[in-house]
Amino acid sequence: MGVFDSGVGGLTVLHECLVTMPHEDFVYLGDHARLPYGPRPLDEVRQFAREIGAYLQSQGVKLVVNACNTATSAALPQLQEDLDVPVVGVITPEAHAAVQATRNRRIGLLATEGTVAAGRYAELVHALDAGVRLLPVACPRLVPLIESADPFGAETTEAVREYAAALKDAEVDTVILGCTHYPLIRPIFQRVFGRDVTLVFSAEETAREVAETLARKGYENDARREGSYRFLTTGDPDAFREMGARFLQLPIAEVEHVELAALGAAA
Ligand code: DGL
Repeated sequence: MGVFDSGVGGLTVLHECLVTMPHEDFVYLGDHARLPYGPRPLDEVRQFAREIGAYLQSQGVKLVVNACNTATSAALPQLQEDLDVPVVGVITPEAHAAVQATRNRRIGLLATEGTVAAGRYAELVHALDAGVRLLPVACPRLVPLIESADPFGAETTEAVREYAAALKDAEVDTVILGCTHYPLIRPIFQRVFGRDVTLVFSAEETAREVAETLARKGYENDARREGSYRFLTTGDPDAFREMGARFLQLPIAEVEHVELAALGAAA
């Protein structure tokens, strides 16, 4: 399977996929040369996603996971049209889980500027329940803080408190954490929102959706084998390895460099 993200954040999705489907093979591509996607115009992110999707398909994967909320917001329908293999994004599974979980039908969304601007979560939530109120909040400070040397520092807690304030005032009972980086600071979110608020993370919901897709299509590998996983980056392989282990929480051996020109040529 091919999994991609703007950088290391999608490794939280890969982590869940590896523990849910240990018998499958994975290739993960991080587009570090063009990170971050969050503040970029959506049509630029769409072009990046199309190049990466085509490249992964040319590597012979049987399914592509768009493990970046911003790239899923910008490009999921186009990717599904372009590619012959199925494409699973990170937004639909979360929207579905949030609509199922909410009791007062007030859902909050924390995500990048690009994801909030695209409005895909609102479309998907309302397609499932037109009576739900979705409150989106863009959180531009969180990705750099989570990637910093001190992700659990006071500054991160302050930023989460600030972004959560409007959602707490609106008394949402469910919050979608709509960005690949956010599972890394799960305890901070849980403490700020309290136990009564259900937090929905893309990594877990997406892994479940991928496993179900493979099972229903009959595309699964033999459950007795042990799968492999490997890594590609458009940036610096050493930097990927160092930062990546924190997000993957599993060993990272080889990381190969891929030229942006190779992605462009595949599209
Ligand atoms: N992967 C991005 C997302 O999930 C966050 C990092 C970025 O802005 O590129 O939205």
